[in-house]
Amino acid sequence: MTSKISLTRYLVEQQRAEGHIPSELRLLLEVVARACKSISQAVNKGALGGVLGTAGSENVQGEVQKKLDIIANEVLIEANEWGGHLAAMASEEMDEILPIPNRYPAGEYLLLFDPLDGSSNIDVNVSIGTIFSVLKKQNDDPTKIDPVSTKDFLQPGRQQVAAGYCVYGPQTTLVLTVGDGVAMFTLDREQGSFVLTQENVTIPADTQEFAINMSNMRHWDEPVKRYIDECLEGAQGPRGKNFNMRWIASMVADVHRILTRGGVFLYPWDKREPNKPGKLRLMYEANPMSWLIEQAGGAATNGTQRIMDIAPTQLHQRVSVILGSKNEVERVTAYHAKV
Ligand code: AHG
Ligand code: MN
Ligand code: MN
Repeated sequence: MTSKISLTRYLVEQQRAEGHIPSELRLLLEVVARACKSISQAVNKGALGGVLGTAGSENVQGEVQKKLDIIANEVLIEANEWGGHLAAMASEEMDEILPIPNRYPAGEYLLLFDPLDGSSNIDVNVSIGTIFSVLKKQNDDPTKIDPVSTKDFLQPGRQQVAAGYCVYGPQTTLVLTVGDGVAMFTLDREQGSFVLTQENVTIPADTQEFAINMSNMRHWDEPVKRYIDECLEGAQGPRGKNFNMRWIASMVADVHRILTRGGVFLYPWDKREPNKPGKLRLMYEANPMSWLIEQAGGAATNGTQRIMDIAPTQLHQRVSVILGSKNEVERVTAYHAKV
């Protein structure tokens, strides 16, 4: 019988493999995984743990915070602030970056997270998750160490050194990339550890499944309307095949389905708020998901550009997202070019 490979063993092996992850990054990822385990426990308790419902506050994006948004944010901060591997953290639930307090040693990594993705699904017992992205603080002049600032975070997604998510669903699954493909780890609750359950995840280039919030159809731009209209025309239309639709309203669960069996996910710009580039956030939602998708052979664009090439100007900036099976993403992107 082959022995089970824990997340720890996987990371140690990645550390040993030449050119892969340094020990500090391994520690960081283990700490993030431990935090996800605690969040998973809280999610599982639900009403019994008093974690459902709203907290009565708003985040920087003007969204009502749920109790679990705040709990998950605190769990991630408490787990990560003392280990010495981080320079600072940034979160959907915090207006500003959080530099590591002076009482702890600081490291060179920057951790960004959406502590609880899919907040509208918490109280209705539908899959939710945590999304994270890791960058390295760039130090142009090694003779002086500048205090960490928001500017340090404003790096394009292609500079990520690790990215992943943990989905809290029927199973708790941690999905990770350090630039060497995508691996999935399932939480073994009896052992209390994440066990490798899939390696070299790949997304089929073609699909017959799309994910979009159809209720926004009247607000979409022409290229998105055309793409979805053609899918809906099915075998009789220009695509010559029938399409199925899924929309979980937790990006983490929609992306997990796409990594598992293919598909295309769209949260495009729409006319509801024309000045906003989209709903989803670039730094801690779109970038980490785009890297996972690309590492699995898929593609991710904002309609005109590869998401990971976007140079961010703001920590909480939004972006239009089209990601998943390569041929579908390329088709939607090509429709944007024709306008
Ligand atoms: P969050 O809960 O972190 O604010 O993110 C919710 C996001 C994303 O997970 C999901 O795809 C989308 O919002 C759902 O939006 P609709 O409510 O428009 O369906
Ligand atoms: Mn989110
Ligand atoms: Mn969130």
